[in-house]
Amino acid sequence: MEEIVFALDIGTTKICALVGEVREGQLQIIGLGIQPARGMRKGMVVDVGEASVALAKAVEAAEQTSGYHLSEAFISMAGEHISSTNNRGAVAVGRHDTGVSSDDIARALDAAQAIPIPHNRQLVHLIPRSYTIDDQEGVRSPIGMHGFRLEVEAHIVTAASSALRNLSTCADNVGIRTNEFVLNAVASAEAVLEPNEREMGVIVADIGGGTTDLALYMQGSVWHTHVIPVGGYHITNDIAIGLRAPYEVAEQVKIRYGDCRPQEIDGDNVFTVEPFGGEKIQVGRQDLAYVIEARVEEMFQLILQEIQRSGYDGMLPAGIVLTGGTAQLRGITQVAERVLNVPARVALPRNLVGLVDSLQSPAYATGIGLLRWAMSGQQLYRPRLPQTGLWGRRVGNLLKALLPG
Ligand SMILES: Nc1ncnc2c1ncn2[C@@H]1O[C@H](COP(=O)(O)OP(=O)(O)OP(=O)(O)O)[C@@H](O)[C@H]1O
Ligand SMILES: [Mg+2]
Repeated sequence: MEEIVFALDIGTTKICALVGEVREGQLQIIGLGIQPARGMRKGMVVDVGEASVALAKAVEAAEQTSGYHLSEAFISMAGEHISSTNNRGAVAVGRHDTGVSSDDIARALDAAQAIPIPHNRQLVHLIPRSYTIDDQEGVRSPIGMHGFRLEVEAHIVTAASSALRNLSTCADNVGIRTNEFVLNAVASAEAVLEPNEREMGVIVADIGGGTTDLALYMQGSVWHTHVIPVGGYHITNDIAIGLRAPYEVAEQVKIRYGDCRPQEIDGDNVFTVEPFGGEKIQVGRQDLAYVIEARVEEMFQLILQEIQRSGYDGMLPAGIVLTGGTAQLRGITQVAERVLNVPARVALPRNLVGLVDSLQSPAYATGIGLLRWAMSGQQLYRPRLPQTGLWGRRVGNLLKALLPG
């Protein structure tokens, strides 16, 4: 029997709606809708109406390609409002011969969750890092082990309630209930990390349009997370200012000619652009690369600062894994390696099956990872029966609702 999972990656620049079919533990992509995002800034909704219209189009495309009526989704989240901490919780192990039970683990996690959370924030993730049974530290899977005292160390992620509500309101507007929110980088990691990388120590940096999302893994689990409100948008903006050209022109220039290794580019290598005012000018690719390099270097400095702040500097032998659209920038791994002094690689989603041609990009790691997260969490749900003849109702109703009078 197959199960259907639905993921919505609502990014700053694009929305990616993916439908996955899970059969015997294998994921197949059976529906997708990719749309430019609207009403978003630095990973957060700033205009619910605009964001909902864009979302409606993506959801409709995903329904049309998959043939399913979709009613709930796993949704990615990002933004500066997200913060994380670690906490411990300990309980006495219940008295039975079978050792630690799932009930003991649930009580320990409950205890770990007892941190003061301001009323305007809410808990999003409570991820066990490791367990201690009596004096035995570093236990991965305590079920069935014997002891008197069970302690869990958990990574806790909280977010501003208003930011989450804005996201789920957009989903509600298009008839989708929020199944779970998942931090961008945690979702991306699900799509790209090898088990041995998680084991040894690795950091995933999802560098999107408006945010750089970090998730640090050690001993097989999430150890630290952070969101930096800088992304590809800022690189394009620097280029636009440098060229005195519109943002769209700068974006094209970045993608066609951009590189972050000015030393490796011939000084005679030029291209033509049309800045404001209309008179075409010639620009050196090396000069462009200097502008890009400066911003990208700054982005990795911010990542380095966060790694140092987390206290795991020097403990990431598997290095940094880059995802997000900006990871496609030429030469980005060299800058990462120079600044962080660890190996760097750009990652595409792994082991894709189904409608995958347009998903072969690091920009889709979050969407694919959401589906994998949904699978691993056993949060699968039964689809409603496919419906026909209703396509278009969402955008239509929504636009009606948004029009004045
Ligand atoms: N070939 C490329 N070279 C450099 N940058 C690129 C390339 N293709 C896309 N980008 C950049 O990637 C960014 C979009 O990445 P992505 O799709 O991961 O963002 P997002 O998920 O919408 O945003 P976020 O996750 O920050 O909310 C844009 O800034 C875009 O300019
Ligand atoms: Mg993204």
